[in-house]
Amino acid sequence: VRVIGEEAAASGDSPPYVYAEPRPAALIESLRAFGYTTEAAIADLIDNSITATARHIALDFFWNGQNSYIALHDDGRGMPPDVITAAMRPGDRSPLEERSPNDLGRFGLGLKTASFSQCRELTVASRARAGEISVRRWDLDYVGSVGEWRLLTSPPREIPGVADLLGGTTGTVVVWTRLDRIVGQAAVDDHRAHDRFLQLADRVKRHLAMTFHRFLEGPKRLRLVVNGAAVVPWDPFMTKEPATQVLPVEPLHLNYHRVTVRPYVLPHRSKLSTKAQHDGAGIKGWNAQQGFYIYRNNRILVAGDWLGLGFQKEEHCKLARIALDFTNASDEDWQIDVKKSTARPPAPLVRDLQAIAKFSRDRAQEVYRHRGKVISRKASADFVFAWQQVVRHGRVRYRVNRAHPVVAEALDAPKPERSRLERLLRFVEETVPVPLIGVSIAQTSDEPATPFEGVPSKELALVLRETLQSMVAKGVRANEAVERLATVEPFSNYPALIAELSEQMESP
Ligand SMILES: Nc1ncnc2c1ncn2[C@@H]1O[C@H](COP(=O)(O)OP(=O)(O)OP(=O)(O)O)[C@@H](O)[C@H]1O
Ligand SMILES: [Mg+2]
Repeated sequence: VRVIGEEAAASGDSPPYVYAEPRPAALIESLRAFGYTTEAAIADLIDNSITATARHIALDFFWNGQNSYIALHDDGRGMPPDVITAAMRPGDRSPLEERSPNDLGRFGLGLKTASFSQCRELTVASRARAGEISVRRWDLDYVGSVGEWRLLTSPPREIPGVADLLGGTTGTVVVWTRLDRIVGQAAVDDHRAHDRFLQLADRVKRHLAMTFHRFLEGPKRLRLVVNGAAVVPWDPFMTKEPATQVLPVEPLHLNYHRVTVRPYVLPHRSKLSTKAQHDGAGIKGWNAQQGFYIYRNNRILVAGDWLGLGFQKEEHCKLARIALDFTNASDEDWQIDVKKSTARPPAPLVRDLQAIAKFSRDRAQEVYRHRGKVISRKASADFVFAWQQVVRHGRVRYRVNRAHPVVAEALDAPKPERSRLERLLRFVEETVPVPLIGVSIAQTSDEPATPFEGVPSKELALVLRETLQSMVAKGVRANEAVERLATVEPFSNYPALIAELSEQMESP
């Protein structure tokens, strides 16, 4: 710590501050801890290439044990020497600066934080129009040992030909070497580590197919190639499927900036080919991919989340996926982060978003309700009630229907237990408070509650599932059992649940 104004201090007037510059060795190591996944880190590099108007991006994972490396080439506008130096400086531009409308950046950090989260050595080589190739390299160990922000100007030892890797007239190469967080000290012939490296490449590819799908579509699309294979965009909304429902678009406004919300209800699996069912599941699977998809300048920040609006991911809502778009002019309102993987709904929009979420979830659930009704219509058996009314000697009694599957199931037990259950049923039947029920129904104008209403559907699902399982265990075919239960009280009140279960029976 250097105290300035020493003359002033000597004269007795000490300045009202001291200097506290960050120590290079400590800060550069801390920049590693932003919490990026490899997928998010590489997406951050691709943001930069797209912002530099690249039309072609190639990403390669080179396996060579602990000397493995990852390289990204683009044919964007490139950087002259002074720009590339600035680009390598952590904290060169303020996030408060206004950005051009197509800029995917915000913080002036991504290149560095994303790279350091994965490797100890970052090299950038770039050529702008009519210029030479310039190379800049951060070596964390070197910075650590000299204790100064010394940016090297030579390519890394292991791949001296990094500049040759450039094609076209302008462009940029980003190379990550010493991948301590990805391969560590793995030997070249460590097959397991090699496999993990390839699997990682595959995960990255899927993440990019989703994150940048809008850039990878259309006539002027970006060509993104990972390990030599073109990345095929993943459309979360299956817009090419005829059975996809597009719900009305809701334009919202916040501080004069537009936010567009477009909900979709994806087709039920019965309307999709096996391949489409599989593809539609996305990275996290059907259930986890429900919810909002937040796009900032067409790039996905969040893929499938209810954004803390008070909704859970539920099986019967899984067909609801909602596109939400804003631009980089609203970054502050959405509190986006350096990793470009979170965004928070601004308070003034919360109620509107809740209403849209609710509406979309209802419509998605409707698909299951409809499926359930189809199942119960197909079932030929008569409707099975849980209670039967018996009139004897002019008096009304209520009996539990012994033929109801849930009851029959329970009674199908060895003698002593069956007798005990029988006694319990008789006891319940003899003590049904018929007059009381009559009075209270007469007093309330509302409809009586449907059985299990208000009970979490999990509980009912459990009763249903157990009954179903034991029917199947006794030799009833699964789909027949589902159809039978669809006409049984109280399950018949929950066609969506029936449809869901029937779906699970189809795909164990
Ligand atoms: N592939 C590239 N082609 C051309 N310029 C690039 C490339 N990558 C980075 N740059 C330049 O380097 C700068 C710093 O990039 P960096 O990712 O660190 O920050 P940013 O993109 O400005 O903001 P953010 O932290 O939000 O990503 C960019 O603003 C851009 O000028
Ligand atoms: Mg960036």
